[in-house]
Amino acid sequence: MKIQHNISLKPYNTFGIDVKATQFVEITSLDDLKTFLNTEKDFFILGGGSNILLTNTIDKPVIHINTKGIAIVKQTNRHVFVKAQAGENWHAFVRWCIAHNFGGVENLSLIPGNVGTTPIQNIGAYGVEVKDTIYEVEALEISTLSTLTFTNEDCAFGYRNSIFKNEAKGKYIITGVTFKLTKEHHQLNSSYGAIQSELDTQHCKNPTIADISKAVIAIRQRKLPNPEEIGNSGSFFKNPVITSTRFEMFIKKYPEAPHYIVSNDAVKIPAGWLVEQCGFKGKRFGDAGVHKNQALVLVNYGDATGEEIVALSEKIQQAVKKKFGIQLETEVNII
Ligand code: EPU
Repeated sequence: MKIQHNISLKPYNTFGIDVKATQFVEITSLDDLKTFLNTEKDFFILGGGSNILLTNTIDKPVIHINTKGIAIVKQTNRHVFVKAQAGENWHAFVRWCIAHNFGGVENLSLIPGNVGTTPIQNIGAYGVEVKDTIYEVEALEISTLSTLTFTNEDCAFGYRNSIFKNEAKGKYIITGVTFKLTKEHHQLNSSYGAIQSELDTQHCKNPTIADISKAVIAIRQRKLPNPEEIGNSGSFFKNPVITSTRFEMFIKKYPEAPHYIVSNDAVKIPAGWLVEQCGFKGKRFGDAGVHKNQALVLVNYGDATGEEIVALSEKIQQAVKKKFGIQLETEVNII
């Protein structure tokens, strides 16, 4: 365990916001974590820092989970069960799976963040969500310091949602995730339009999981800003879901609007489209801005403060509400 005082959190959040932590505790083992939590009950957990927007100094201990390790825990004829520690970088884990020819997470290539935070918001991209491969989640119960296991079902996964954002919020620290992956006959998911056209461009007729990963990486690099170059936290808003009755009125007015039918009574509208229609795509206000290729992503060009990003997001929410009557919800956690 390494404890530092009064450090900037800029390198620890992908938005690159420069706020201070009065105490920063780097955890490299489960024992470290238990020892620290034995005496400290009020703290802030920081994973990969890829889904947060920091607006203020954090004046309680910031616990940075940096535990490492990837191991095969069980195998059957078709499947392999792989456990990764919470502090493993997500994309490094995806690369490890592809190198071992283990299928299931290739569509989730290049998503920033750490393994331990992926179940919280059930990360998803290009037709796949992490819940499709999660077998179980290991977590430390803060009140008892005992280790518990959540099965996939216990996690109550939904679109960018899980039990860890609801009933279990603040009660557990995720320490490891076990994934159920295929060893052969991978179920490739190339149905998402952009993947198919990327594979066609590369004349790839019988894609492997490595080809799918390559295609996803190419699409993401084209559309989404690299947090190492321009600070951002991916999608800032969730895609709103409206009722079919409201959708009928909406689509009459905006027949060109992209949309996905979620169920008999629910339709999802891409927030990026709504934000673009309100004229924000590529706009910059000081160092806070809206990405030029994907209006769903807010960016920090250098020295934006958390408040400036929040102010921009509120301006966008008001404009979308006024034009479409739809309330955008933030996907990023504002601290
Ligand atoms: N669109 C626009 N303008 C924009 C952005 C998008 O008109 O500026 C339109 C596109 O033309 C397309 C539709 O909106 O018709 C959907 O766009 P895209 O395929 O880029 O996906 P998205 O719905 O905007 C979601 C996820 C992304 C994920 C992509 C790909 C959410 C909140 N976001 O975005 O996730 O990479 O699908 O699967 O669900 C993230 O969560 O950080 C993230 C990047």
